[in-house]
Amino acid sequence: MSKRRAHIVGWGKYVPARVLSNADLERMVETEDEWIVTRTGIRERRLRTETDTTTSMAVNASRDALKVAGLEGKDIDLIIVANSSPDYLLPGPANFVQHELGASCPAFTLAGGCSGWVYSLVTANQFIETGAYRNVLVVGVEIISFAIDYTDRSTCILFGDAAAAVVLQPSTDGAGVLSFELGSDGGLAKNLWVPGGGTVNPVSQQVVDNREHYIRMNGQEVFKFAVRQLSSSLHNVSTQAGLSPSDLDLIIPHQANLRIIEAAAERLRLPLDKFYVNLHKYGNTSAASIPLALVEAIQDGRVKPHDRIGMVAFGSGLSWAGAVVKMGVNVPVANPEALAVGAAD
Ligand code: UT7
Repeated sequence: MSKRRAHIVGWGKYVPARVLSNADLERMVETEDEWIVTRTGIRERRLRTETDTTTSMAVNASRDALKVAGLEGKDIDLIIVANSSPDYLLPGPANFVQHELGASCPAFTLAGGCSGWVYSLVTANQFIETGAYRNVLVVGVEIISFAIDYTDRSTCILFGDAAAAVVLQPSTDGAGVLSFELGSDGGLAKNLWVPGGGTVNPVSQQVVDNREHYIRMNGQEVFKFAVRQLSSSLHNVSTQAGLSPSDLDLIIPHQANLRIIEAAAERLRLPLDKFYVNLHKYGNTSAASIPLALVEAIQDGRVKPHDRIGMVAFGSGLSWAGAVVKMGVNVPVANPEALAVGAAD
């Protein structure tokens, strides 16, 4: 019998209805659709409506994920919500999500920026491997627009709001988290940060006047870090899983910038079509980015039973997190023969 691992048995997403297109941004800051598309690949992103909250978006995605898994809120043993844009400074959204879902389990928020969901997936895997918990809900949700300065053209074009969730359960048939790598280089922290509103520089009129409550980013430094980390982490997690990156059936990179993905693909000598991309529709949704792409890849029929999927996130910290996850048999099968072929591997 294989080692017990956390594998994905349910998935769901929620994207707000409001669309912010490149044409809309042209009316807000000095930019052009062509510049944004050429430099990033992003065409539009979603923004929360008046009725969306961090909790409501997470709950919507979670309800769908639980439905796919055939579970109800009361069946969940642990909830981890990856989020850096909470409804309130305290508590984080995980406790509200737990209450709204009718669950009576432990819940915590992991504030890891864009790497937060993969950090949460790996954390959940530890609890499942040890046998501590059985049904674990891992959500990635951001209303990151609240921390965006819509007068700063170098950041406001990049980000959007979204939520996505998966349900994990123990498997003993080899499916699940095969390998992972977590990393942090805090020496680079101030390349992507919010300088005001914390204990060093608490909210004040001056903080607001200086727009220090918004994200500040050194785009070129983050770009270089991202290309380096995306390629090296994909290499490392593949090797740990006994694979080469070309053996991966699909790669779900953090959806930050198409040029970052292209550069990493080139470094690894992999065709671009191995990478799932949906950033043209949503931009960078931070902690929601990888789960949202995973859910859409499954819904688009890009994921088959037994597929080995590489995921790598990077972002504030600066931090990174990668994993290889082998899917079980519970993904929708377009061609049932694929199931028999996959099972024989
Ligand atoms: O989860 C991680 C999140 N962060 C990231 O992934 C960010 C990684 N970095 C990037 O994606 C890119 O660095 C950006 C898309 C942010 C910027 O692209 P770039 O090719 O690195 O541009 P740049 O910063 O070198 O700027 C080139 C020029 C500058 O003008 P000058 O100084 O050459 O006159 C900028 O002022 O482009 C200008 N620029 C813009 N022009 C039109 C910056 N933003 C815009 C804009 N529209 N939105």
